[in-house]
Amino acid sequence: MYVNAVRFLDDLHTLRSFGASGVGKGVVRPAYSEADMEARVWLAGRMRDAGLRVEMDAMGNLFGLAEGPSLLMGSHSDSQPEGGWLDGALGVVAALEVARASREAGGPAISVVSFQDEEGRFGVTTGSAVWSGHLDQTSADRLCDHVGVTLGEAREVIGGLVTGPVDPAQFTGFVELHIEQGPTLDTSGEQIGVVSDIVGIRDMKITFDGQQNHAGTTPMHLRRDAFQAVSAFNAELDARFRNVVTPATVWTIGHLSLHPNASSIVPGRAVFSMQWRDGDGGRLVRMEEIIRALADEIAKARGMRVQFGQMLGLEPVRMDARLRALLEQGAQAVAPDNWRLMPSGALHDATNVSRLMPVAMLFVPSIGGISHAFAEDTDEADLVAGVKVLGAAVSAL
Ligand code: GLV
Ligand code: MN
Ligand code: MN
Repeated sequence: MYVNAVRFLDDLHTLRSFGASGVGKGVVRPAYSEADMEARVWLAGRMRDAGLRVEMDAMGNLFGLAEGPSLLMGSHSDSQPEGGWLDGALGVVAALEVARASREAGGPAISVVSFQDEEGRFGVTTGSAVWSGHLDQTSADRLCDHVGVTLGEAREVIGGLVTGPVDPAQFTGFVELHIEQGPTLDTSGEQIGVVSDIVGIRDMKITFDGQQNHAGTTPMHLRRDAFQAVSAFNAELDARFRNVVTPATVWTIGHLSLHPNASSIVPGRAVFSMQWRDGDGGRLVRMEEIIRALADEIAKARGMRVQFGQMLGLEPVRMDARLRALLEQGAQAVAPDNWRLMPSGALHDATNVSRLMPVAMLFVPSIGGISHAFAEDTDEADLVAGVKVLGAAVSAL
């Protein structure tokens, strides 16, 4: 099978032009934004050019389908609010190239997917969560982004493009190529990572309600300042986790909104995102207990109310042994003794898809280990090596 590197890189750069940020190679292409929908329309055209039948489901997941049973490949084409050009896009465009190359070589049938809202504007990998049955459409539609738009409202923009549900039974498995998004391969100098398993995640919003008041007249000892509650919570959390976490465990407060968010007002309300990830589902549960107990304790000590939002999450998953072995053989052929087996600390659509079929994943290095930032990048030679590994694995099917 001949993987066409020029055609693949051309498509990857064209996809970046939808939502190109102007800063480095960054993109701003959140789920259901104008740039996201334009990118999906362009991708649909490239799928048709590749001889695939285009379908879009009610979530906006975009499929290019081969005839009969096929191997599904792809990832997502939405981005973080400030994202890189490769996160998700690489896996979609690589899948397109492998589908074309396999067809030209008379190889196995390959279908292509770009899932919607992998980056969680509304939750956690929402598009593939609904497609896989992990989340039902009605509950998904009630999820809110950080400015209060519901997913149900946001997905109205896809109206005319929806063709209907896509039956997972036609796929024999799912393979996703992705950038690593961390420092492991960049540090070791290896070109390819074959994924062993993907960590689990929990994500919920926490709200402290105190008393909004005048910032000049309210004595410090009488304040019920919601931001001070968040600050105290964050300062104590690491110590409470100490006996539970490992060096591989991570936790993040990535979004905070204060009400009314003004210099001269003691904030009466603070809403923040609390997210934690680990490869051990039991540890995720113990961390949740600590988070809830600490937030309750802080609210009580400061005369506040605390509310916990809907708990979103995915369990850790292991990659399929047979598909993984094919990727390992491909990695050894393309990058002899210059690849490794490794876990994924980032989440991927593959986690949801593993409910339906065997899945496997492949990584290429991220320069400086940077992702979810405009500075995200990968050497072109490594991008092409990743597609060649996919091609080699498909040839061996
Ligand atoms: C996916 O983008 C993640 O947050 O890991
Ligand atoms: Mn991604
Ligand atoms: Mn991402």
